[in-house]
Amino acid sequence: KLPQPFTVPLPIPEPLAPTSTDAQGAHYAMTLRQAEVEILPGYKTAIYGYNGTFPGPYLDVRAGTPMVVHQTNQLPVPIVTHLHGGLTPPSDDGFPTDFVLPKALADMADPAKAASMPGMGGMPSMHDPLAHMTAVERDYVFPLKQRAATLWYHDHRMDFTGAQVWKGLFGLCVVRDDEDDKLPLPKGEREIPLLIADRAFDADGQLLYPVDDPTLLGKPGMKGSIKAGAQGDVILVNGAPWPFLEVAAVKYRLRLVNASNARRYELKLDGPGGGEFVQVGSDGGLLAAPVTHSTLHISPAERFDVVVDFSKYPVGSTVTLKNAAGDGGTAKVMQFKVTSKASDESSVPARLSTIEKLVVDGEKRRLVFALKGGEWQVNGKSFDPAKPLLKAEFGKVEEWTVTSVERHPVHLHGAHFQVLKRASGSGDYDEGWKDTVELSPGSEITLAVRFDAYRGRYVAHCHNLEHEDMAMMAAFQVV
Ligand code: C2O
Ligand code: CU
Repeated sequence: KLPQPFTVPLPIPEPLAPTSTDAQGAHYAMTLRQAEVEILPGYKTAIYGYNGTFPGPYLDVRAGTPMVVHQTNQLPVPIVTHLHGGLTPPSDDGFPTDFVLPKALADMADPAKAASMPGMGGMPSMHDPLAHMTAVERDYVFPLKQRAATLWYHDHRMDFTGAQVWKGLFGLCVVRDDEDDKLPLPKGEREIPLLIADRAFDADGQLLYPVDDPTLLGKPGMKGSIKAGAQGDVILVNGAPWPFLEVAAVKYRLRLVNASNARRYELKLDGPGGGEFVQVGSDGGLLAAPVTHSTLHISPAERFDVVVDFSKYPVGSTVTLKNAAGDGGTAKVMQFKVTSKASDESSVPARLSTIEKLVVDGEKRRLVFALKGGEWQVNGKSFDPAKPLLKAEFGKVEEWTVTSVERHPVHLHGAHFQVLKRASGSGDYDEGWKDTVELSPGSEITLAVRFDAYRGRYVAHCHNLEHEDMAMMAAFQVV
């Protein structure tokens, strides 16, 4: 019942129109609701979606103009929204216990009561004294005082992020600015976002997720052994299974986002010629200079902004985006069909931007990501929202060294960082400003980070969402 690969057209997301623009910023409205959508041809799949879509609406926004997103939670579960890669004050950053409660829970005025209501029993997230819970709806205000970059937003509810993102609570956000606009990179129809996410489906086309309690209102927990996190056998791009895109024989800018819960990819272009990705941007926007890759390693939540030159392939040929880290269905991602010749004024300049080199002048810290007694921990502790692991000093460049015996995509909220060194493995994918990096097994990575945007409570965590839900997360304070 799965479609033949490369038979479904790639959906190209249309930007969500603001409801209004005023002195506060550009306003957007999103209702989080259940819906049935066609993901696999011929099937209706039940999802949780921002505006009922899978993935959520595409936010195409300007740096420096605040984005105000009014969210209404019509789902049966609490939600929390995080703009991944956004520099956002703690109040709007989607801290994992800052729930927007569904109506049924909001009606129980006392959150302690909600915690004890059937189904919410013992949920530790209901006992965070610092949580800012709101009933049913709220505005998220994102100042966007940052560089142009490819971001994404997703649910961040404590203990249930993996399950809720899997059901559809994720979407794309592209921040633009004049510096990026002025570059001669491919634009308009030749700039294509690719949100890659794997999913598993049952015989009726419903999403399969290894959760203990599918209502997502009881005790958190996952079925069986999912040490590697939840992975599916169907690769979706912009919500479509193994899609295809017709391209002209010219350069395209592809904004790659790994929106998968736990799957990492080693992407390659397979076709009669070419085969290169020219990387122009990373998680935090433009690189100083382009970097050419024949393979792109992309771990969950990472973004790579690349230019691919399809003029290197004959008209009439197909170019398959493959995943060397997968097998069978997961070894394929999508296909480009080179259908025509066209003129191309675009180019990739040798200098793209200027990147300040961070020099450490603050604390040096060590974070150990480890599996202990069945729990995924940071420095020997399971996530406790009320107990910050450390206090980072505002404005100082700190050095954070993260180690682990397993593989983890490490993500920090509150700032972008630079990779100073890796104990092993190549640093080919570490250029520029990052917010998520892959830590390879038995390795160590050293980051320079300066929290100079906002003070307050943030989180650092593993972006394998099942590891995150199994408590591989730490709160920290910027003071
Ligand atoms: Cu993409 Cu803390 O999240
Ligand atoms: Cu992990």
